[in-house]
Amino acid sequence: MGKAASGVGRQATSFLNWVDQRLPVTDFWNAHLAKYYAPKNFNFWYYMGGLALLVLVMQIVTGIFLTMHYKPSAAEAFASVEYIMRDVDWGWLVRYMHSTGASFFFIIVYLHMFRSLLYGSHRKPRELIWVFGMLIYLLLMAEAFFGYVLPWGQMSYWGAQVIINLFGAIPAIGEPLTEWIRGDYFISDATINRFFALHVIALPLALAGLVAMHLTALHEVGSNNPDGIDIKKNKDEDGVPVDGIPFHPYYTVKDIFGASMFLMIFAFVIFFWPEAGGLFLEHDNFAPANPLVTPEHIKPVWYFTPYYAILKAVPDKLMGVVLMGVSVGVLFLLPWLDRSPVRSIRYKGNWYKILVFTFAIAFVRLGMLGMAEGTPAQTWEMRFWTFIYFAFFILLFFLSKNGAVKPEPERVTH
Ligand code: HEM
Repeated sequence: MGKAASGVGRQATSFLNWVDQRLPVTDFWNAHLAKYYAPKNFNFWYYMGGLALLVLVMQIVTGIFLTMHYKPSAAEAFASVEYIMRDVDWGWLVRYMHSTGASFFFIIVYLHMFRSLLYGSHRKPRELIWVFGMLIYLLLMAEAFFGYVLPWGQMSYWGAQVIINLFGAIPAIGEPLTEWIRGDYFISDATINRFFALHVIALPLALAGLVAMHLTALHEVGSNNPDGIDIKKNKDEDGVPVDGIPFHPYYTVKDIFGASMFLMIFAFVIFFWPEAGGLFLEHDNFAPANPLVTPEHIKPVWYFTPYYAILKAVPDKLMGVVLMGVSVGVLFLLPWLDRSPVRSIRYKGNWYKILVFTFAIAFVRLGMLGMAEGTPAQTWEMRFWTFIYFAFFILLFFLSKNGAVKPEPERVTH
């Protein structure tokens, strides 16, 4: 038995050697896992990147199975989704994993981005990780928008109508641009066809490529950590950071634990609350698209509503569209707006804590207002929080240079 086992082991090793001479599998394993040293003080927030990766894979796999039964045509799309929900074996599960998965994707990505604000992960030398992250975020929003149109329910149709018409506000090219996007004079079969093509192949491919760039950039400079200090400054005689631990097995095990917890919560929501009371799947989308009947209250899914509120806060359509664009675009600049000598919130003064938490409240409140009906009082409140939203970036730029800081520790705190 022992002989046989060692025989198998020897064969496996020689097979690996054979492969290694042709493809650098062991080198890759070492460079990115077994000998990749990550700071030893990762906390809860550091689960999110791995979870985002998990959800990305889950969306792709469930998406493939949905595509097997879904019909990308104005005449058949709605019925094909109903067919998936009622008649396809496990179809309801696959569909809910995908639709609820989209919302979970955004929950995770928002937490992932917020972590950066807490610990200054976007600061030098990690600017490109952030920029790739922002490009991922933009594509993710486009991907979610195209996906939402596919079931061809009332909100798919009218949501698309509102969003595409925003491009119509651009002077001179607005009208032809909306026609070009729709592929028709109105939202039609041509529109659903192209949105399907973009949703199932073009954007997922681009997303996968950007995630690869995101992680390559991350592994080039190494992870930040909750103290925001550089672990590479302090190395032992072998050149290994003294506050670093090999990613595998330490963080692979930690991430498996995080993934298990996440999957339990995710399963609970899918089984008991998949539509989240209309938050993840809106009630209006359970009625087939009808170009002749406008739903009473058109609003995007929750993850878009902070920006939607900024759009609605401005009376002029073009200016609203511009401000909404700027509200997303300004996030790209974050690495250069924060000029504090320290990265982490732990060693910044109260000025930063107040700024970041007010910003977070503004973002959440704008999100809530973006879902509301839009009474005059709510519109004024949207204006107030829009002002706070932009004030954050301006104040950050001016206060961070000389804002109070505490001394950073020599070694990471644990
Ligand atoms: C599909 C979406 C995404 C995936 C799969 C992903 C994946 C990851 C992974 C695996 C890590 C390392 C683990 C961790 O630090 O949590 C990471 C780090 C990071 N990500 Fe993302 N990410 C995504 C989106 C984003 C977005 C939207 C942003 C910001 C706009 C972003 C910014 C960052 C930054 C700054 C780091 C370095 C964090 C640090 O070292 O402290 N990521 N990402």
